[in-house]
Amino acid sequence: MSAQIGFVGLGLMGSAMAGRLMDKRFPLTVWNRTKDKAEPLVRRGAKLAKSARDLAMSSDIVITMLSTPEVVEALSDEILSGLAPGGIHVDCSTISPRITTALTRMYIEKGSLFIHAPVLGSITQAAEGSLLIFAGGDRSAREKVRPVLDAMAKKVFVFENVAEATHIKLLCNFFIASMIGTLSQSIAFARSSGVNPTALLEVISLSSLNAPMYQSKGPSMIAGEFAPRFFLEHMLKDVRLMEEAAKDRAVSMPVVPVLRKLFEEGVQQGLAKLDYSAILKVLEQKKPR
Ligand SMILES: NC(=O)c1ccc[n+]([C@@H]2O[C@H](COP(=O)([O-])OP(=O)(O)OC[C@H]3O[C@@H](n4cnc5c(N)ncnc54)[C@H](OP(=O)(O)O)[C@@H]3O)[C@@H](O)[C@H]2O)c1
Repeated sequence: MSAQIGFVGLGLMGSAMAGRLMDKRFPLTVWNRTKDKAEPLVRRGAKLAKSARDLAMSSDIVITMLSTPEVVEALSDEILSGLAPGGIHVDCSTISPRITTALTRMYIEKGSLFIHAPVLGSITQAAEGSLLIFAGGDRSAREKVRPVLDAMAKKVFVFENVAEATHIKLLCNFFIASMIGTLSQSIAFARSSGVNPTALLEVISLSSLNAPMYQSKGPSMIAGEFAPRFFLEHMLKDVRLMEEAAKDRAVSMPVVPVLRKLFEEGVQQGLAKLDYSAILKVLEQKKPR
């Protein structure tokens, strides 16, 4: 009999990932705080649980894709109280190494298992099953959940130590935040100095400086379109998590607080629910002192 899968957290990413699992015919039970977001999956045949605890009671493997470390921590109590001994919780959210390490311990004490499997890629990659997944934690649990992760991924990277997976994801998002910071500052400078930003993007595209991200984000930023694929408020969370991890490890990362302040200004200016590339709007309003 195939493992029963529960999926908690049907936001931008969770809906696409759960949809991919349905494409691949995994039997799915779902739960989301805002019930409406479960409807498209329920229409396709997913079962709807009354709570995260109820979902865990009927699942061998529970996957979560939630906003923040605090939310993952709170729902983990419910999930753990519902999972049968040997049940596995796979969290795919971007959260902190402090929490993934603490949850790993807590699950072992209660006879269940926790895997952190954060993802790189956005809604398109989630829907087509081409994410990069960093799976950290107990080897036998990782092997049991592997077919589910494979269905969502172009490649699954595995790590014995849960914090290694968590850290790699934070470092990837540090790249994203830094790259969007560079791109935004360059577009703002170009515009205010008579340089066509589209010409700048073309030059970059033909050089060794290029990255697919510049070409996928650049044109929409230049057009002033910031429909969310990754909320600016979540990028702020990730930059803060990187800052906390750097402090914990006593590593100097002086660019991180600068990026954090930019994303904080974005949230203060009401841009939290726009795409993170909307920090271009913050920069364009800033006047140097
Ligand atoms: N978007 C991306 O491209 C991307 C890529 C890689 C990783 N990530 C990470 O993946 C995670 C989810 O991202 P997302 O883009 O899917 O975000 P999202 O659309 O904001 O979804 C967040 C999910 O968390 C749930 N949630 C928030 N607060 C809750 C609470 N107090 N109790 C219960 N549920 C709660 C939301 O439920 P409601 O629907 O009720 O609000 C929703 O299901 C984040 O950690 C993000 O950093 C995102």
